[in-house]
Amino acid sequence: MPQTVKGVIARSVGEPVELTDIVIPDPGPGEAVVAIQACGVCHTDLHYREGGINDEFPFLLGHEAAGVVESVGHGVTGVAVGDFVILNWRAVCGSCRSCLKGKPHLCFSTFNASQKMTLEDGTELSPALGIGAFAEKTLVHAGQCTKVDSSADPAAAGLLGCGVMAGIGAAMNTGNVTRGDSVAVFGCGGVGDAAIAGAHLAGASKIIAVDIDDTKLEWAKGFGATHTVNSSQVDAVEAIQELTDGNGVDVAIEAIGLPEVYKQAFEARDLAGTVVLVGVPNPTMSLELPFIEVFGRGGSLKSSWYGDCLPSRDFPMLIDLYKQGRLDLDAFVSERIGLGDVEDAFHKMERGEVLRSVVVL
Ligand SMILES: NC(=O)c1ccc[n+]([C@@H]2O[C@H](COP(=O)([O-])OP(=O)(O)OC[C@H]3O[C@@H](n4cnc5c(N)ncnc54)[C@H](O)[C@@H]3O)[C@@H](O)[C@H]2O)c1
Ligand SMILES: [Zn+2]
Ligand SMILES: [Zn+2]
Repeated sequence: MPQTVKGVIARSVGEPVELTDIVIPDPGPGEAVVAIQACGVCHTDLHYREGGINDEFPFLLGHEAAGVVESVGHGVTGVAVGDFVILNWRAVCGSCRSCLKGKPHLCFSTFNASQKMTLEDGTELSPALGIGAFAEKTLVHAGQCTKVDSSADPAAAGLLGCGVMAGIGAAMNTGNVTRGDSVAVFGCGGVGDAAIAGAHLAGASKIIAVDIDDTKLEWAKGFGATHTVNSSQVDAVEAIQELTDGNGVDVAIEAIGLPEVYKQAFEARDLAGTVVLVGVPNPTMSLELPFIEVFGRGGSLKSSWYGDCLPSRDFPMLIDLYKQGRLDLDAFVSERIGLGDVEDAFHKMERGEVLRSVVVL
């Protein structure tokens, strides 16, 4: 029997989000219904609401979530009813050309549920990143459920489902940060601070946090930043060069999605260094760089989809590090809110007051 539950939707560009009744079908073959326990508010949810991702309104927002599997459809063997899971938005297919080349983290054909969740009048919803977890329950592909240690706090664990994984992975997987490296992270929101935490875990010796907000810079120190630069007050590139004997950093991570900041990351990088773009640009943006510098500086310019993570490999491992006290996921949880508070949480995010507001159910 389809069930009606509460969920947070965005009906049109820029309109405040709305808590309303949504209809969840029973899981079909390969699908699972998950009872959501917690879901973080990510900047990408706001990008959806602003029409910055696509125009397939109405969206069912929310995608950084943990919960318990309530029911599974035919043929599901990877997870079972009662499992505590983190939802992922890149369930690898195992058979596309990237998976077959041994690069499943870049899978070109990731899975989502095939059935649609709807409004009560039958209008089909587009779940954010194929998840839609600002809701009491959601329908996903079973491959989007990654089982982890059930003693973890859902509010902290769920953050690995998007921003925190993207940031940690941008440093550890995409940027290949290793011990002794110098790293600069531009934008110290949830994603940027996670990149700082990832660089710290990987053994970077110098971690420079760059933001325009002093409070964010202060928080960044708690995740392992060794130096901070307020780029609204000083030239970020010069400041980073000064902190690195005039050379620039080995790895420069852009965690905002702005061409002018990407340019700073490009210029603040040492010869043969790596630039990682984990911030998401909007479709109207374009980037101009001196072409001779792209060649002359060598190294690599990389994008980081979801921190190049493999959920099945990385989520349980990072939850173990969290349980051992080596990764402070709790520090990303700025506040716990209800389903009705998402619009407020967007404004707090815009005002820079939080790293993550987390809806708990
Ligand atoms: N690649 C991925 O898979 C992935 C996953 C999740 C989120 N994201 C993206 O990562 C980005 C960051 O997300 P978030 O949730 O951390 O956002 P956020 O809004 O919490 O953080 C952004 C930070 O950037 C700072 N900032 C803004 N303009 C700046 C500037 N000109 N110079 C320096 N700092 C500036 C802000 O003060 C803030 O601290 C977003 O674009 C989001 O969509 C990407
Ligand atoms: Zn694939
Ligand atoms: Zn996200």
